[in-house]
Amino acid sequence: MRILVTGGAGFIGSNFLNCYLPSYPEHTFINLDALTYAANLINLKGVAARPNYRFERGDISDYSRVREIFEQHDPDLVVHFAAESHVDRSIVGPADFVRTNITGTFNLLEVCRGMWGRKEGKLFHQVSTDEVYGSLGPSGLFAETSPYAPSSPYSASKAAGDHLVRAYAHTYGLPVTITNCSNNYGPFQFPEKLIPLIIINALEGRPLPVYGLGENVRDWLFVEDHCAAIWAVIHRGKRGETYNIGGANEWRNIDIVHRICDVLGEETQTNPDIYKKLITFVQDRPGHDLRYAIDDLKIKRELGWQPNETFATGLRKTIRWYLDNQSWVESVKTGDYRKWMEQNYRERLTG
Ligand code: NAD
Ligand code: DAU
Repeated sequence: MRILVTGGAGFIGSNFLNCYLPSYPEHTFINLDALTYAANLINLKGVAARPNYRFERGDISDYSRVREIFEQHDPDLVVHFAAESHVDRSIVGPADFVRTNITGTFNLLEVCRGMWGRKEGKLFHQVSTDEVYGSLGPSGLFAETSPYAPSSPYSASKAAGDHLVRAYAHTYGLPVTITNCSNNYGPFQFPEKLIPLIIINALEGRPLPVYGLGENVRDWLFVEDHCAAIWAVIHRGKRGETYNIGGANEWRNIDIVHRICDVLGEETQTNPDIYKKLITFVQDRPGHDLRYAIDDLKIKRELGWQPNETFATGLRKTIRWYLDNQSWVESVKTGDYRKWMEQNYRERLTG
């Protein structure tokens, strides 16, 4: 099988390649990535020299480049991770989100339609998010049948991508599957997202920014468990179906920040109060979704997927990984990162 992985140099895509590329030498994995600020080829240093790995730099919003890559590699399966993925950035500058998450997805679908037609044995897998369902109140869960109600430019652009995927299945018979997953954490996550940001700032003695009162709730899943769920869906999932993926692991943001400080304290033999004193409540994210939580009964019942990590084991592994991979941390803390973090923090402090 020739597997085209888009966004394979990002957080989840690189974990996916690191998990499956070495175990399946009979499959060729082609990584198509534009190498935006969120990408890091160092994530792939363990697999890059393998004979079943190919790298193509390219922007999915460029139709001719996407077509050229399909003509060259003739993929059987597309696992579509590539996206602009950070909600805060989508609020500051939504245009890139529309370009990549909507036009980019459209280009991939168009090329698949043109090149695959109704050929057997092909599949387009859309990696999506629980944020397309909007926000929950204090109770309830998102099911696959929940209506789409995205709130941020990021989630609206992902929702549009999902709608296009379903439209191509319905209208043209394109074989597709979609997964909608909750918040991931783990190695190689770009430290603009909550968990790695808190770890890195705590280690540097910088403020730990908590939006609003820190009462928003997210469901957290270790990244390799997400990758295993995607692998199960692409191999055993029913064509045309959507599967929700979650960790059954809901946390208020403020509690997660405290928990990170505690584990970091244990791992660095430091009094956690030193880290906790850095917690700074800052202005809330505009339109901040209150709570996400997933009903993942379908994937568990139909495909037998279960997460391997508990939050206790996954968080400790993640914190250990950031402590043991200081050179990776240094490699991402360059130009754009510092500028973005400082600007975002300053604006939230001053309102
Ligand atoms: P990421 O931001 O870490 O990585 C995105 C990757 O896509 C980067 O390598 C980037 O260079 C690439 N990319 C961006 N624009 C591109 C373009 N125009 N053409 C080609 N490549 C481009 O993202 P992530 O956190 O790994 O998320 C991967 C996917 O999973 C996304 O589709 C996201 O919506 C979805 N998702 C993420 C989470 C999460 O918690 N991170 C949860 C559920 C779903
Ligand atoms: O639910 C899945 C989604 O999870 C993915 O689709 C997105 O790509 C991914 O970025 C993530 O979105 P969130 O907005 O939930 O993740 P983030 O890490 O940015 O924020 C998690 C929570 O923590 C959220 O309620 C906002 C809050 N937060 C975030 C940052 C960066 C803070 O309180 N302080 C911060 O500095």
